[in-house]
Amino acid sequence: MATQLFQKIQQLKHQRNAVILAHNYQPGEIQDLADFCGDSLELSRKAAQTSAEIIVFCGVQFMAETAAILSPEKTVLLPDKFAGCPLADMITAEQLRQLKHQNPDALVVCYVNSSAEVKAESDYCCTSANAVEVVNSLPANRPIIFIPDQHLGRFVIERTGRNLILWPGYCPTHVVITIEDIKKVKEKYHDAIVMAHPECTEPVKELADQILSTGQMLKFVRTSSVKKFIVATEIGIIHTLKKQNPQTEFIAASDRAICPNMKKITLDKIISSLEDMQYKVTVPEEIRMKAKKALDRMVEILPEK
Ligand code: 13P
Repeated sequence: MATQLFQKIQQLKHQRNAVILAHNYQPGEIQDLADFCGDSLELSRKAAQTSAEIIVFCGVQFMAETAAILSPEKTVLLPDKFAGCPLADMITAEQLRQLKHQNPDALVVCYVNSSAEVKAESDYCCTSANAVEVVNSLPANRPIIFIPDQHLGRFVIERTGRNLILWPGYCPTHVVITIEDIKKVKEKYHDAIVMAHPECTEPVKELADQILSTGQMLKFVRTSSVKKFIVATEIGIIHTLKKQNPQTEFIAASDRAICPNMKKITLDKIISSLEDMQYKVTVPEEIRMKAKKALDRMVEILPEK
């Protein structure tokens, strides 16, 4: 059945001159069929560079929106129009305007997990892969507002020594991972390396050996001689980790770390998306132009790892 769906998707993809981009948290079969699978920064860069006319974005709304901002001449499709991001919804453009009003000298760095309107109000965007490098590139004498993820923000404060003005946003999928979860798996797999995403809470990150974006996790494991890893992020990434490293053992820090929005995309929905050209993600030109400035800076600044 899945093979038939795969074939149908390949056929439609060629007919439409489409590319399928998938985030590392997508269901396994979607990661397998995608032309490119990666973290938010890698996907944004791919979306900006592709020569395909259509981008089917297997991820969530802000990711498809980012592709639409960077590549306005392309048609960007999100196979499920309700695949949102609760973290991105935790700050509105109006709330950011108020925060800017309270801190008139501050530069605004916004995490890519945000709406196009919020990006348009920001000076720089970043992903978890280059947040430290983006903040380090800013003048030392300027205050910095960092929105909306407080946990990524605290990680950046720790790595850069800069005093950021934070917003109390968080990713509901990452904060379910507790220190008890980590301690429990560590007890059983005491020789395993713990990799945590920067969106995890601070006590969880303190127990981690490595704090990495999803793309950095894949790279780190590929170049490591260690054969056992505890993974503290959304469990979808374990599919590709296992595929790329069949001799290595991967243990989810918590089986509850599942993003319900990422899992809304299915093979059937990708077919409908390509057949009916749905759901088109567009951004009004005025907002797009402003948001693009912040995103161009994000895409230019590469992570050191
Ligand atoms: P990455 O950029 O590490 O893939 O993270 C994306 C994300 O949305 C995490 O919740």
